Amino acid sequence: MKTQIGIIGAGPAGLTLALLLQKQGINAVILENRSREYVEARVRAGLLEQNTVDLFDELNVSERLHKEGLAHHGMYLSFDGVRHYVPYTKLTKGRATTIYGQQEVVKDLIKACIERGIPIHFETTATAIDGMETSSPTIQFTQNGENQSLTCDFVAACDGYHGIGRKHLPKDSYNEYRIEYPFSWLGILAYAPPSCDELIYSYHENGFALLSLRSPTVSRLYLQVDNGDKIENWSDTAIWDELEKRLHTEGWNLQRGEIFEKGITPMRSFMIDKMQHGRLFLAGDAAHIVPPTGAKGLNLAVADVKILAKGFASYFKKKNIQLLDNYTKTCLKRVWRVQDFSNFMTYLMHKQAPHGSFEYHLQKAKFDYIQYSKAQAMTIAENYVGLKAI
Ligand code: APR
Ligand code: PHB
Repeated sequence: MKTQIGIIGAGPAGLTLALLLQKQGINAVILENRSREYVEARVRAGLLEQNTVDLFDELNVSERLHKEGLAHHGMYLSFDGVRHYVPYTKLTKGRATTIYGQQEVVKDLIKACIERGIPIHFETTATAIDGMETSSPTIQFTQNGENQSLTCDFVAACDGYHGIGRKHLPKDSYNEYRIEYPFSWLGILAYAPPSCDELIYSYHENGFALLSLRSPTVSRLYLQVDNGDKIENWSDTAIWDELEKRLHTEGWNLQRGEIFEKGITPMRSFMIDKMQHGRLFLAGDAAHIVPPTGAKGLNLAVADVKILAKGFASYFKKKNIQLLDNYTKTCLKRVWRVQDFSNFMTYLMHKQAPHGSFEYHLQKAKFDYIQYSKAQAMTIAENYVGLKAI
């Protein structure tokens, strides 16, 4: 097999990249380890920045997103039962966010790729990348138990945190940065109408809780739990009781319903400071992970491939390699900004120190500052909706 861009991974990064390339007349082939059913059912976060929605509009893949997605214009930040509203659309001159589950995004992108004739090989595992320093790198892969290869002009490793792309960078050629947080998120999906018109991020002395939603009938909620906690330790009633406690505010009720999906995910910040080597380029979770408190994972993946697609277009159309040469440098500006914001939101809203301690009071002072200072509210708002400039 031969193509211009060999893409490993049919997550948001790989699929969006293939569609962007096709728009520029550049051919790509996607190799995906899992089945179509598996990737379309994988439950993840669901908040899209304005930049992401704008890009999906440009790609003409946003029809269902606009029909079923829920536009949001502000959020509640709550501390010890006191809620503060951050009107982020007002603070950012009209920029909004949209709630639309990542698996719905993936379904729409796969459908568009297939309809537009972009080949996606599911249940196909990339095993090695050869010749990255030559002009025709090759992806070795297995399909139906057979070893095959895909020769390309460039390889885009959009293969997530556990993929093979990152492992093919020369070992000593980059720095790796990592924080493993001492807590995880227990997430549920439930048949319950939204209990609030906006998302609620809440600090409570028992730990953080987040109220989000998916549709007028489905809610998505999260609880901070200890690392090592097991989902079997949490009955549905215990989950709802704890959510009610942590999200409580005077005169407000939490709507309960049947829980149909639950799981625990560790919280981590991770990145490397090199996203390319020779003709291999990394994008999305393959190069960085952010804790979900800032709702940035998918948005950052899409921002990477937007830059990468521009680089490929400039190379194939103008024989100009400069954008590709600068790919890492261009991406890292946004990655570091988003790492900082995600880490800031995580420390702002999670319980880390004994209630009432010096650290607790510092955390509360940071929270209270949002209420006193429009500048601080605006800082949170512009980062949350996604900075346009980088
Ligand atoms: N061969 C083929 N496919 C692979 C291989 C491999 N060796 N290794 C991994 N993959 C596939 C995975 O099965 C997965 O479908 O690569 C895909 C990577 O997709 P994602 O993990 O969704 O990563 P990305 O596209 O970067 O999207 C980032 O996803 O993890 C969330 O929070 C994150 O929202 C963010 C988004
Ligand atoms: C979600 O709806 O899954 C969600 C929303 C906001 C976050 C994280 C997850 O910060």
